[in-house]
Amino acid sequence: MSDAVRVYEVGPRDGLQNETQIIPTARKIELIDLLSRAGFRKIEATSFVSPRWVPQLADAAEVMAGIQRHDAVDYAVLTPNLKGAELAIAAGADELAIFASASEGFSQKNINCSIAESLSRFEPVMAVAEKAFVPVRGYVSCVAVCPYDGAVDPRAVRDVARRLFDMGCYEIALGDTIGAGTPESIRRMIEEVLTEIPAERLAGHFHDTGDTAIDNVRVALDLGLRTFDSAVGGLGGCPYAPGAKGNLSTAVLVEMLQAEGFDTGIDLQALALAEACIAAMKSVPPT
Ligand code: HMG
Ligand code: MG
Repeated sequence: MSDAVRVYEVGPRDGLQNETQIIPTARKIELIDLLSRAGFRKIEATSFVSPRWVPQLADAAEVMAGIQRHDAVDYAVLTPNLKGAELAIAAGADELAIFASASEGFSQKNINCSIAESLSRFEPVMAVAEKAFVPVRGYVSCVAVCPYDGAVDPRAVRDVARRLFDMGCYEIALGDTIGAGTPESIRRMIEEVLTEIPAERLAGHFHDTGDTAIDNVRVALDLGLRTFDSAVGGLGGCPYAPGAKGNLSTAVLVEMLQAEGFDTGIDLQALALAEACIAAMKSVPPT
């Protein structure tokens, strides 16, 4: 098994979407530029979603136009539908991410449609992405617990993951959206998904509400996963998932992986500069 682990930085998207204050576009660009120098190969930069639903990321096109792109980095964005995908491709996104839920309650609250409807909305997204040679990542949210429906059956996660994989997503990120997964429930869920999708096509996306994210990463590593999402400074949450606090902090993840002998390619000193940028961001008075 490879000793390299890919750390997928989602802070500029999963973190900033949940900030109560609107962060100036220039600050977002500065954050992404600092992250680009820290050794990441994948940075989720923003979302092309409805600005009425997520006003925090209404400047997605400006952010994509303003960042200094590094050749080694893929700048990914979230897209819920064809409109988002077209805007994202026009903005030069290197990768799209579609997002479905394993629970009906969260699907309705987050994207205003059923799981089945969301999957059919993704078909045209996959088609335009394929035409533009842009790879697509698929998220499954609420892989352990849904804030509206409660405990989620691992078989529901497996089925949605399989649908996204069959549609052509190159990787499926398993999202513990509200950080309520435990090492035991996350193990059961991943073991179920592994019956349909190989470990090298899966990623762990664990929020840290219950302080279990790092232990959940250990379980996933043990099951063969080698890609993990995290957010600089532990930023994060989802405006439509009450209780979804920060993502796993990137520094905490990288330090654990390095201590365990995994190669991440991340420069912790460069990452600290990005963390300092967030501290400055948060001290900006609300607009
Ligand atoms: P809707 O209101 O049902 O959609 O929202 P609609 O088609 O009726 O459109 C409403 C308005 O939005 C229209 O504008 C559309 O043009 C516009 P109006 O005519 O009223 O002025 N619109 C758009 N504008 C820009 N970009 C678009 C877009 N689409 C429509 N792409 C919709 C449905 C899906 C659009 C909405 O519910 C939405 O945007 N939801 C996104 C919510 C979101 O971003 N949640 C956070 C991300 S998910 C997450 O954090 C979990 C994750 O991290 C994994 C995990 O942790 O588990 C990924
Ligand atoms: Mg998330």
